Amino acid sequence: SLPASVRIVEMGPRDGLQNEKRLVPTDTKVELVRRLEGAGLKAIETTSFVSPKWVPQMGDNSEVLSRVLAQAAAGVAYPVLTPNLKGFEAALAAGATEVAVFGAASESFSQKNINCSIAESLERFRPLTEAAQAAGVKVRGYVSCVVGCPYEGAVAPQKVAEVAATLLEMGCYEVSLGDTIGVGNPASISRMLEAVMKRVPVARVAGHYHDTYGMAVANVFASLQMGVAVFDAAVGGLGGCPYAAGASGNLATEDLVWMLDGLGMATGVELDALVDVAAWISAELGRDPASRVARAVLAK
Ligand code: HMG
Ligand code: MG
Repeated sequence: SLPASVRIVEMGPRDGLQNEKRLVPTDTKVELVRRLEGAGLKAIETTSFVSPKWVPQMGDNSEVLSRVLAQAAAGVAYPVLTPNLKGFEAALAAGATEVAVFGAASESFSQKNINCSIAESLERFRPLTEAAQAAGVKVRGYVSCVVGCPYEGAVAPQKVAEVAATLLEMGCYEVSLGDTIGVGNPASISRMLEAVMKRVPVARVAGHYHDTYGMAVANVFASLQMGVAVFDAAVGGLGGCPYAAGASGNLATEDLVWMLDGLGMATGVELDALVDVAAWISAELGRDPASRVARAVLAK
């Protein structure tokens, strides 16, 4: 049987915008978070404290986070990405109460994305998770390339399980499994989850599926059938990773909500309000909403 309710972690302001070529104004980023809250999202990844030389789009991280937190909505979490202690300290100074570390199950992707090996990344995360614990800050963990890597091809489910277990062991409350380039399908995602769930309780697992090949909702459904009840998604299907060429956006939040509504699973998100946010941010970026659900709802 499927989980009774699903927690959605909104990726639009971070994963959604990090790869935009033109710098998105800080005001627009803050406004996006406000509108997402208005649609009922309760966890909104707000920005990332990475190097501005690597990801210029997130260079206004401190300003975005402090402005968002100055008018934080009750019961809403605003996690931010932090690759190392330097990023964590900057996030903490801006008021962060939740951060996320991001590792990978593929060596080449780890090198291209965060300039170190998987083992080195885990060593960097350890002092970060300790500092977070001392400061009362929650830490989420990501594993990228959970079924395929843009540089290495297929990734072994065992490797994903190993990295996921290590992240939980160092104090992450949840580990989000990223199909960074969207090459997974219900069969490969299920095989990967089966391996992970031998090491990690399903209640600590989240799915983060990019929609490059249009399989993201199918992958969510396969994951729901295995008991996964937390999913990452980006309004309007925004985004992509700068270190994974050709990777398209996350699963669109409105596609996810449409399916979950149909399955009778509570999310707390209001579909029509969410589609309005998709239309607004897509217009701000100078394009039509990418998602099927937004296009269908807006055409009515
Ligand atoms: P590095 O160059 O190896 O770092 O980068 P370093 O420690 O050698 O430092 C070099 C310079 O960077 C120094 O400055 C540091 O101060 C600075 P300099 O002395 O040259 O002026 N620096 C920083 N500045 C700001 N914030 C920081 C920071 N750390 C060092 N936190 C680093 C290593 C990790 C910083 C770099 O590789 C980086 O920023 N990578 C960003 C990668 C990224 O943002 N990728 C996209 C997000 S992950 C993703 O999208 C996948 C996900 O969605 C899941 C999925 O889909 O799979 C999560
Ligand atoms: Mg991603």
